[in-house]
Amino acid sequence: MKKSLLILTLLSLASANAQKSNAMNTKEAINKKVEVLLNKMTLEEKVGQMNQYNGFWEVTGPAPKGGDAEKKYEHLRKGWVGSMLTVRGTGQVRAVQKIAVEQTRLGIPLIIGFDVIHGYKTLSPIPLAEAASWDLEAIKKSTQVAADEASASGINWTFGPNVDVSREARWGRVMEGAGEDPYLGSKIAIARVQGFQGDTEDDLAKVNTIAACAKHFAGYGFAESGKEYNTVDISNATLYNTVLPPFKAANDAGVRTFMNSFNILNGIPATGNSFLQRDILKGKWKFDGFVITDWASVREMINHGFAKDGKEATKKAVEAGADMDMESHLYVAELVNLVNEGKVDIKFIDDAVRRILRVKYELGLFDNPYKYCDAAREKQVVGSAYNHEAVLDMAKKSIVLLKNDNNLLPLKKSGQKIALIGPLANDKNSPLGSWRIAAEDNSAVSVLEGMQRYKDNALTFEKGADLTIGKTTFVDEVVFNTTDKSGFEAAKNTAKNADVVVMVLGEHGFQSGEARSRTTLDLPGVQQELLEEIYKVNSNIVLVLNNGRPLALPWAAEHIPAIVEAWQLGTETGNAVAQVLYGDYNPSGKLPMSFPRNVGQCPIYYNHFNTGRPTNSENNVFWSHYTDVDKTPQWPFGFGLSYTKFEYKNLKLNQSEYKKGEKVTVTLEIANVGDYDGKEVVQLYIQDIVASLARPVKELKGFELVALKKGESKTVTFNLSEKELGFYDNNGNYLVEPGQFKVFVGTNSDDVKAATFELK
Ligand code: BGC
Repeated sequence: MKKSLLILTLLSLASANAQKSNAMNTKEAINKKVEVLLNKMTLEEKVGQMNQYNGFWEVTGPAPKGGDAEKKYEHLRKGWVGSMLTVRGTGQVRAVQKIAVEQTRLGIPLIIGFDVIHGYKTLSPIPLAEAASWDLEAIKKSTQVAADEASASGINWTFGPNVDVSREARWGRVMEGAGEDPYLGSKIAIARVQGFQGDTEDDLAKVNTIAACAKHFAGYGFAESGKEYNTVDISNATLYNTVLPPFKAANDAGVRTFMNSFNILNGIPATGNSFLQRDILKGKWKFDGFVITDWASVREMINHGFAKDGKEATKKAVEAGADMDMESHLYVAELVNLVNEGKVDIKFIDDAVRRILRVKYELGLFDNPYKYCDAAREKQVVGSAYNHEAVLDMAKKSIVLLKNDNNLLPLKKSGQKIALIGPLANDKNSPLGSWRIAAEDNSAVSVLEGMQRYKDNALTFEKGADLTIGKTTFVDEVVFNTTDKSGFEAAKNTAKNADVVVMVLGEHGFQSGEARSRTTLDLPGVQQELLEEIYKVNSNIVLVLNNGRPLALPWAAEHIPAIVEAWQLGTETGNAVAQVLYGDYNPSGKLPMSFPRNVGQCPIYYNHFNTGRPTNSENNVFWSHYTDVDKTPQWPFGFGLSYTKFEYKNLKLNQSEYKKGEKVTVTLEIANVGDYDGKEVVQLYIQDIVASLARPVKELKGFELVALKKGESKTVTFNLSEKELGFYDNNGNYLVEPGQFKVFVGTNSDDVKAATFELK
């Protein structure tokens, strides 16, 4: 090694060590402060720290009179509230913080939580869409923007990322997660935790970072038949290999809080589940932050039939490791008595309070409780041009090209007559998606507005029909237009005269998200009919889909020449879609969930087991399939096209046999043989062919986003270690077993090249 290189290496090692020991010192110092404060606290004050209330709006005016708000206000002043959620804006947050800091005996600041799920006010694409980018840097950056805006608005804690793996398109909350795969989900979990909190432990004290929360711990994505809040009944194999890995990754990345979930696991509600919260999370994984319950989930244990009343529910939740009660109002009502009566050991309270105080210290709230309440910064940061640029960039990267027959796309920039049709084409609200509490209604750029920026084409617009009836809100059922087709004729006339028809159809933004489960995955309302009517007069259709979950659109998949999956892309939706349609951005997104052919196939996912009868080897009916539909999905996990073409060749392993501990090096060449510069997500999957437990037919274990100029080629290298080659047994032990493995590399989970190796 050259001398200068050696010095550099030593210096960087020294600085890494110094950083580590700084972090250790800070940790120790914080733990000491926590102990000092804990010793001063009464039991009531301790329990207060474990109580979180939803916001109320009268805090900036005179004290509220009557109802819930009056009680909350009173409790705040007594020091019986440790946190509030949904209070937002520097003015509101300062007002509640002032009460906590100036009017209570110990002046412990509140931690302020908020659902910053896909941006704060400047909205990025829904998380499922972001996952389709497979671009970890971009996802991290989009999360940083969200953290910046939220922290500038008084918020210091988000209830995200949602790291629930789900295979259920019927479940509305798939829009909040990263899709069906635990490996992709883990990588995205890390990117999001770092985006919110920063890269190092010390970054959390910066003014533009906020504490993250891995949720919902655990199993919620497996709600039976995708019905919201439904029973979860999964095997240990699924728990350890599919559900837990993204949570573990978030914990390893230093996530400061976890949220438990509404569901039961092995009959025990997650909130009262000490196996999950104490044994795994705080025990095995050594998590030293705190666990917040999901909304009212302590009280819901009564409905589950797991507790006879609020008192018993409280005891069970606290003993099981749920540290802070979100809106059950039970800890604050029951815990003091439970301890005084000797029914709950004070050690559980002390443990929870230590964890909560620790995070408050780490955020720097004790040094300056108003550090997130700088109105000038709020004005400068929220909605800045930089943030708009960032969410636009993320939105373009999230788009997936599903079909492009005869290169209908990209559109020509001039000389084409384009008809834009569809109820979502000029919608400025629906593309904001579901979690958008802080965003202004109707603040998205519509597709019409985005396309109007391209002025050299003749663009005509006809809605064709309404998607919904009445006002759509976050809390009400969406009502669809199923009868009014009066706009069809005008739309058909417009389509007739056009060279190309762009149709923007799909789900309403409030049709996915919490409590938005569906039993169909089609285009709601009269949209399918509108599509087929337009097709009759002009089949040159580009279908732009807006949706928060995989849809099943067999007719469109067969007939429509070009299909673009544009999800709900947030504030900059229309600009992103237009830039992709006109070829100013070459799409590179890949599906993070399989798209079924019909709803009956659900749950359908690429990493399924083989079964005993995977193929029709006997040429009869007795094999694992449906009699009425192909057993493959419409579009598989990892699928996505580009305007250019990529060729994969020369898949090679550096050896054919490996000893335990040796790295498996996989290389292949990829060439851009099409007409455009482009990016491709090269995906690597493995199969452990024979193991002590059945293993999936394929498991994603690596991917790389490769940018290739037209005509360019590159060699891509993947290294597999024991971290990728093993799996969890039914007791949660990680095993790497010798034997034959397959490696697959390709453009999606189905279209791959394969090689084999032996692990000795
Ligand atoms: C959701 C959580 C969310 C919380 C607070 C609950 O209903 O399940 O994900 O963070 O509400 O809004």
